[in-house]
Amino acid sequence: MIKQEWKDKGFIDEAIPAGIDLKGEIRRLCKEKNAVVLAHYYTDGTIQDVADFVGDSLALAQIAEKTDADIIVMCGVHFMAETNKILSPEKKVLIPDLNAGCSLAESCPAGELAKFKAEHPGYKVVAYVNTSAAVKALTDIVVTSTNARAVVDSFPKDEKIIFAPDKNLGGYLNAVTHRNMLLWNGGCHVHEQFSIEKIVELKAAHTDAKVLAHPECKSGVLALADFIGSTAAILTYAEKSDAKEFIVATESGILHEMQKRCPEKVFIPVPPTTGPCACNECGYMRLNTLEKLYNTLKYEWPIVELDESLIEDAKRPIVRMLELSK
Ligand code: 13P
Ligand code: SF4
Repeated sequence: MIKQEWKDKGFIDEAIPAGIDLKGEIRRLCKEKNAVVLAHYYTDGTIQDVADFVGDSLALAQIAEKTDADIIVMCGVHFMAETNKILSPEKKVLIPDLNAGCSLAESCPAGELAKFKAEHPGYKVVAYVNTSAAVKALTDIVVTSTNARAVVDSFPKDEKIIFAPDKNLGGYLNAVTHRNMLLWNGGCHVHEQFSIEKIVELKAAHTDAKVLAHPECKSGVLALADFIGSTAAILTYAEKSDAKEFIVATESGILHEMQKRCPEKVFIPVPPTTGPCACNECGYMRLNTLEKLYNTLKYEWPIVELDESLIEDAKRPIVRMLELSK
Protein backbone atom coordinates (compact mmCIF):
# COMPACT_ATOMS: atom_id res chain seq x y z
CA MET A 1 0.00 0.00 0.00
CA ILE A 2 1.53 3.30 -1.11
CA LYS A 3 0.87 5.99 1.50
CA GLN A 4 -0.52 9.38 0.43
CA GLU A 5 2.43 10.99 2.24
CA TRP A 6 4.87 9.15 -0.09
CA LYS A 7 2.81 10.08 -3.14
CA ASP A 8 3.00 13.73 -2.08
CA LYS A 9 6.76 13.48 -1.61
CA GLY A 10 7.40 11.52 -4.83
CA PHE A 11 9.43 8.84 -3.05
CA ILE A 12 9.05 6.24 -0.31
CA ASP A 13 10.11 7.74 2.97
CA GLU A 14 10.15 4.58 5.09
CA ALA A 15 12.92 3.99 7.61
CA ILE A 16 15.21 1.09 6.74
CA PRO A 17 15.24 -1.70 9.38
CA ALA A 18 18.33 -1.43 11.60
CA GLY A 19 21.25 -3.68 10.76
CA ILE A 20 20.00 -4.52 7.28
CA ASP A 21 22.59 -5.29 4.58
CA LEU A 22 21.17 -2.77 2.13
CA LYS A 23 23.26 -3.77 -0.89
CA GLY A 24 22.63 -7.48 -0.25
CA GLU A 25 18.88 -6.86 0.11
CA ILE A 26 18.78 -4.82 -3.12
CA ARG A 27 20.48 -7.65 -4.99
CA ARG A 28 18.14 -10.22 -3.36
CA LEU A 29 15.04 -8.24 -4.40
CA CYS A 30 16.39 -7.89 -7.96
CA LYS A 31 16.78 -11.67 -8.19
CA GLU A 32 13.42 -12.43 -6.59
CA LYS A 33 11.53 -9.98 -8.85
CA ASN A 34 13.59 -10.37 -12.04
CA ALA A 35 14.44 -6.68 -11.82
CA VAL A 36 17.41 -4.88 -13.30
CA VAL A 37 18.98 -1.73 -11.84
CA LEU A 38 20.39 0.73 -14.38
CA ALA A 39 22.54 3.64 -13.20
CA HIS A 40 24.00 6.68 -14.92
CA TYR A 41 27.67 7.62 -14.37
CA TYR A 42 26.52 10.77 -12.55
CA THR A 43 24.86 8.92 -9.68
CA ASP A 44 26.58 8.43 -6.36
CA GLY A 45 29.27 5.71 -6.34
CA THR A 46 27.24 3.56 -3.91
CA ILE A 47 24.43 3.38 -6.50
CA GLN A 48 26.84 2.60 -9.34
CA ASP A 49 28.37 -0.23 -7.29
CA VAL A 50 25.03 -1.96 -6.64
CA ALA A 51 23.63 -1.54 -10.18
CA ASP A 52 23.45 -4.28 -12.80
CA PHE A 53 24.60 -1.85 -15.42
CA VAL A 54 26.21 1.60 -15.37
CA GLY A 55 26.36 3.68 -18.53
CA ASP A 56 25.80 6.87 -20.46
CA SER A 57 22.37 7.84 -21.76
CA LEU A 58 22.81 5.98 -25.06
CA ALA A 59 23.94 2.75 -23.43
CA LEU A 60 21.12 2.93 -20.86
CA ALA A 61 18.55 3.27 -23.67
CA GLN A 62 20.13 0.37 -25.57
CA ILE A 63 19.97 -1.87 -22.49
CA ALA A 64 16.34 -0.92 -21.82
CA GLU A 65 15.48 -2.00 -25.36
CA LYS A 66 17.12 -5.42 -24.94
CA THR A 67 16.68 -6.52 -21.34
CA ASP A 68 14.42 -9.47 -20.54
CA ALA A 69 13.89 -8.30 -16.96
CA ASP A 70 10.28 -7.73 -15.82
CA ILE A 71 11.19 -4.57 -13.90
CA ILE A 72 13.64 -1.80 -14.78
CA VAL A 73 14.73 0.51 -11.97
CA MET A 74 16.29 3.61 -13.49
CA CYS A 75 18.74 5.29 -11.15
CA GLY A 76 19.23 8.44 -13.14
CA VAL A 77 16.73 11.15 -13.95
CA HIS A 78 13.12 11.15 -15.08
CA PHE A 79 13.67 11.53 -18.84
CA MET A 80 15.89 8.42 -18.74
CA ALA A 81 13.13 6.41 -17.06
CA GLU A 82 10.66 7.73 -19.65
CA THR A 83 12.99 6.58 -22.43
CA ASN A 84 13.08 3.12 -20.82
CA LYS A 85 9.28 3.02 -20.69
CA ILE A 86 8.98 4.16 -24.31
CA LEU A 87 11.37 1.43 -25.46
CA SER A 88 9.93 -1.29 -23.22
CA PRO A 89 6.27 -0.36 -22.61
CA GLU A 90 5.39 -3.86 -21.44
CA LYS A 91 7.84 -3.62 -18.54
CA LYS A 92 7.36 -2.01 -15.17
CA VAL A 93 9.69 1.01 -15.05
CA LEU A 94 10.52 2.41 -11.63
CA ILE A 95 12.50 5.44 -10.47
CA PRO A 96 13.62 5.85 -6.83
CA ASP A 97 12.53 9.50 -6.66
CA LEU A 98 10.02 11.18 -8.97
CA ASN A 99 11.65 14.55 -8.20
CA ALA A 100 14.74 13.55 -10.20
CA GLY A 101 14.18 15.96 -13.06
CA CYS A 102 16.70 17.66 -15.34
CA SER A 103 17.17 21.41 -15.72
CA LEU A 104 18.03 20.95 -19.39
CA ALA A 105 14.87 18.95 -20.14
CA GLU A 106 12.86 21.55 -18.23
CA SER A 107 14.32 24.36 -20.36
CA CYS A 108 12.26 23.09 -23.30
CA PRO A 109 8.51 22.81 -22.59
CA ALA A 110 6.65 20.86 -25.32
CA GLY A 111 4.09 23.64 -25.93
CA GLU A 112 6.83 26.21 -26.63
CA LEU A 113 8.73 23.88 -28.94
CA ALA A 114 5.51 23.10 -30.86
CA LYS A 115 5.00 26.86 -31.35
CA PHE A 116 8.60 27.38 -32.48
CA LYS A 117 8.27 24.46 -34.90
CA ALA A 118 5.07 25.94 -36.38
CA GLU A 119 6.91 29.26 -36.88
CA HIS A 120 9.64 27.44 -38.86
CA PRO A 121 7.96 25.25 -41.47
CA GLY A 122 10.30 23.02 -43.47
CA TYR A 123 12.73 22.52 -40.58
CA LYS A 124 13.63 19.09 -39.24
CA VAL A 125 13.76 18.88 -35.44
CA VAL A 126 16.68 17.13 -33.76
CA ALA A 127 16.37 16.77 -30.00
CA TYR A 128 18.85 15.79 -27.35
CA VAL A 129 17.70 12.81 -25.29
CA ASN A 130 17.53 15.16 -22.27
CA THR A 131 13.91 16.08 -23.10
CA SER A 132 10.46 14.99 -21.98
CA ALA A 133 8.55 12.31 -23.89
CA ALA A 134 6.17 15.06 -25.10
CA VAL A 135 9.10 16.95 -26.66
CA LYS A 136 10.52 13.78 -28.23
CA ALA A 137 7.12 13.19 -29.85
CA LEU A 138 7.57 16.51 -31.73
CA THR A 139 10.94 15.59 -33.21
CA ASP A 140 12.33 13.82 -36.26
CA ILE A 141 15.21 12.19 -34.44
CA VAL A 142 16.71 12.05 -30.96
CA VAL A 143 20.43 12.19 -30.22
CA THR A 144 22.63 11.59 -27.20
CA SER A 145 26.01 13.20 -26.71
CA THR A 146 27.62 9.97 -27.96
CA ASN A 147 25.94 9.92 -31.37
CA ALA A 148 24.90 13.58 -31.90
CA ARG A 149 27.61 14.37 -34.45
CA ALA A 150 26.97 11.22 -36.51
CA VAL A 151 23.21 11.82 -36.48
CA VAL A 152 23.54 15.46 -37.57
CA ASP A 153 26.04 14.38 -40.27
CA SER A 154 23.43 11.95 -41.60
CA PHE A 155 21.29 14.88 -42.81
CA PRO A 156 22.01 16.49 -46.19
CA LYS A 157 24.28 19.53 -45.84
CA ASP A 158 21.50 21.95 -46.88
CA GLU A 159 18.83 20.51 -44.52
CA LYS A 160 17.20 23.15 -42.33
CA ILE A 161 17.39 21.93 -38.74
CA ILE A 162 16.16 23.06 -35.33
CA PHE A 163 18.35 21.66 -32.54
CA ALA A 164 16.90 21.54 -29.01
CA PRO A 165 17.31 22.10 -26.16
CA ASP A 166 21.04 22.47 -25.33
CA LYS A 167 22.55 25.59 -26.91
CA ASN A 168 26.09 24.58 -25.93
CA LEU A 169 25.89 21.11 -27.47
CA GLY A 170 24.10 22.66 -30.48
CA GLY A 171 26.81 25.31 -30.89
CA TYR A 172 29.51 22.64 -30.67
CA LEU A 173 27.69 20.54 -33.29
CA ASN A 174 27.30 23.56 -35.59
CA ALA A 175 31.07 24.13 -35.36
CA VAL A 176 32.18 20.54 -36.01
CA THR A 177 29.60 19.74 -38.70
CA HIS A 178 29.87 23.18 -40.39
CA ARG A 179 26.15 23.84 -40.13
CA ASN A 180 23.91 26.60 -39.01
CA MET A 181 21.20 24.76 -37.08
CA LEU A 182 18.69 26.96 -35.25
CA LEU A 183 19.43 26.50 -31.55
CA TRP A 184 16.95 26.35 -28.69
CA ASN A 185 18.15 28.51 -25.80
CA GLY A 186 18.38 25.75 -23.16
CA GLY A 187 21.13 24.62 -20.85
CA CYS A 188 22.14 22.40 -17.96
CA HIS A 189 22.63 24.21 -14.67
CA VAL A 190 25.60 21.98 -13.78
CA HIS A 191 27.57 22.23 -17.03
CA GLU A 192 26.90 25.96 -17.43
CA GLN A 193 28.65 26.59 -14.13
CA PHE A 194 32.18 25.38 -14.81
CA SER A 195 34.68 28.15 -14.28
CA ILE A 196 36.95 29.02 -17.21
CA GLU A 197 39.30 30.90 -14.85
CA LYS A 198 39.67 27.87 -12.61
CA ILE A 199 40.43 25.59 -15.55
CA VAL A 200 43.16 28.00 -16.64
CA GLU A 201 44.56 27.95 -13.08
CA LEU A 202 44.39 24.13 -12.94
CA LYS A 203 46.13 23.84 -16.31
CA ALA A 204 48.94 26.09 -15.08
CA ALA A 205 49.36 23.97 -11.94
CA HIS A 206 49.15 20.63 -13.80
CA THR A 207 50.95 21.30 -17.06
CA ASP A 208 50.80 17.69 -18.34
CA ALA A 209 47.11 17.19 -17.50
CA LYS A 210 44.54 16.71 -20.26
CA VAL A 211 41.29 18.66 -20.02
CA LEU A 212 38.20 16.52 -20.63
CA ALA A 213 34.85 18.25 -21.20
CA HIS A 214 31.25 17.26 -21.84
CA PRO A 215 29.75 19.12 -24.84
CA GLU A 216 27.07 20.63 -22.56
CA CYS A 217 29.80 22.97 -21.22
CA LYS A 218 30.02 26.58 -22.41
CA SER A 219 32.08 27.26 -25.55
CA GLY A 220 34.83 28.94 -23.47
CA VAL A 221 35.32 25.69 -21.52
CA LEU A 222 35.20 23.59 -24.70
CA ALA A 223 37.88 25.81 -26.24
CA LEU A 224 40.24 24.79 -23.40
CA ALA A 225 39.52 21.06 -23.73
CA ASP A 226 41.90 18.45 -25.13
CA PHE A 227 38.96 16.12 -25.57
CA ILE A 228 35.21 16.76 -25.85
CA GLY A 229 32.78 13.87 -25.55
CA SER A 230 29.93 12.10 -23.82
CA THR A 231 30.49 10.52 -20.42
CA ALA A 232 31.26 7.15 -22.06
CA ALA A 233 33.65 8.75 -24.56
CA ILE A 234 35.45 10.70 -21.83
CA LEU A 235 35.93 7.49 -19.85
CA THR A 236 37.38 5.65 -22.85
CA TYR A 237 39.68 8.57 -23.63
CA ALA A 238 40.99 8.63 -20.04
CA GLU A 239 41.59 4.87 -20.11
CA LYS A 240 43.47 4.89 -23.41
CA SER A 241 45.44 8.10 -22.95
CA ASP A 242 49.12 8.02 -21.92
CA ALA A 243 48.49 11.06 -19.71
CA LYS A 244 48.54 10.54 -15.95
CA GLU A 245 46.45 13.54 -14.91
CA PHE A 246 43.09 14.79 -16.13
CA ILE A 247 41.07 17.93 -15.42
CA VAL A 248 37.43 16.85 -15.68
CA ALA A 249 34.70 19.29 -16.74
CA THR A 250 31.56 17.26 -16.25
CA GLU A 251 29.45 16.06 -13.32
CA SER A 252 31.77 14.70 -10.64
CA GLY A 253 29.95 11.36 -10.26
CA ILE A 254 31.93 10.19 -13.27
CA LEU A 255 35.12 10.26 -11.20
CA HIS A 256 33.95 7.09 -9.44
CA GLU A 257 34.14 5.03 -12.65
CA MET A 258 37.27 6.87 -13.84
CA GLN A 259 39.13 6.02 -10.67
CA LYS A 260 37.86 2.43 -10.81
CA ARG A 261 39.08 1.93 -14.38
CA CYS A 262 42.34 3.85 -13.91
CA PRO A 263 43.40 3.62 -10.23
CA GLU A 264 46.91 4.86 -11.04
CA LYS A 265 45.71 8.09 -12.73
CA VAL A 266 44.72 11.39 -11.12
CA PHE A 267 41.37 13.02 -11.90
CA ILE A 268 40.77 16.61 -10.87
CA PRO A 269 37.15 17.85 -10.93
CA VAL A 270 36.68 21.40 -12.26
CA PRO A 271 35.04 23.59 -9.65
CA PRO A 272 32.04 25.77 -10.43
CA THR A 273 32.26 29.56 -10.80
CA THR A 274 30.44 30.15 -7.54
CA GLY A 275 29.96 28.39 -4.22
CA PRO A 276 32.31 26.80 -1.72
CA CYS A 277 32.26 23.25 -3.07
CA ALA A 278 35.18 21.88 -5.08
CA CYS A 279 33.04 19.80 -7.37
CA ASN A 280 29.96 19.96 -9.50
CA GLU A 281 27.13 17.63 -8.66
CA CYS A 282 23.75 17.22 -10.33
CA GLY A 283 21.31 17.47 -7.42
CA TYR A 284 18.73 15.50 -9.41
CA MET A 285 21.06 12.55 -9.96
CA ARG A 286 22.01 12.61 -6.28
CA LEU A 287 18.37 12.08 -5.28
CA ASN A 288 19.05 8.39 -5.98
CA THR A 289 20.05 6.78 -2.69
CA LEU A 290 20.43 3.17 -1.60
CA GLU A 291 17.53 3.60 0.86
CA LYS A 292 15.15 4.86 -1.82
CA LEU A 293 16.33 2.17 -4.25
CA TYR A 294 15.64 -0.54 -1.68
CA ASN A 295 12.14 0.80 -0.93
CA THR A 296 11.41 1.20 -4.65
CA LEU A 297 12.22 -2.46 -5.26
CA LYS A 298 10.26 -3.52 -2.17
CA TYR A 299 7.06 -1.61 -3.01
CA GLU A 300 7.50 -1.43 -6.81
CA TRP A 301 6.86 2.31 -6.73
CA PRO A 302 7.36 5.14 -7.89
CA ILE A 303 6.28 3.85 -11.25
CA VAL A 304 6.73 5.71 -14.55
CA GLU A 305 3.64 5.57 -16.78
CA LEU A 306 3.01 7.19 -20.17
CA ASP A 307 -0.02 7.31 -22.48
CA GLU A 308 0.05 4.71 -25.24
CA SER A 309 -0.25 7.35 -27.97
CA LEU A 310 2.62 9.37 -26.47
CA ILE A 311 4.76 6.21 -26.32
CA GLU A 312 4.07 5.58 -29.99
CA ASP A 313 4.93 9.15 -31.06
CA ALA A 314 8.03 9.45 -28.88
CA LYS A 315 9.32 6.00 -29.84
CA ARG A 316 9.78 6.75 -33.56
CA PRO A 317 12.60 9.34 -33.17
CA ILE A 318 14.33 7.24 -30.49
CA VAL A 319 14.24 4.06 -32.58
CA ARG A 320 15.54 6.06 -35.57
CA MET A 321 18.50 7.13 -33.40
CA LEU A 322 19.13 3.58 -32.15
CA GLU A 323 19.07 2.25 -35.73
CA LEU A 324 21.68 4.84 -36.74
CA SER A 325 23.84 3.98 -33.70
CA LYS A 326 24.16 0.24 -34.34
P1 13P B 1 25.61 11.40 -21.42
O1 13P B 1 24.88 11.36 -22.73
O2 13P B 1 27.07 11.61 -21.62
O3 13P B 1 25.28 10.23 -20.61
O4 13P B 1 25.14 12.71 -20.61
C1 13P B 1 23.87 12.77 -20.03
C2 13P B 1 23.68 13.99 -19.25
O5 13P B 1 22.70 14.17 -18.57
C3 13P B 1 24.71 15.00 -19.33
O6 13P B 1 24.44 16.01 -18.43
FE1 SF4 C 1 20.20 17.19 -16.59
FE2 SF4 C 1 22.43 18.55 -16.22
FE3 SF4 C 1 21.70 16.74 -14.42
FE4 SF4 C 1 22.58 15.98 -16.88
S1 SF4 C 1 23.76 17.00 -15.27
S2 SF4 C 1 20.79 15.18 -15.77
S3 SF4 C 1 21.76 17.63 -18.14
S4 SF4 C 1 20.59 18.62 -14.92
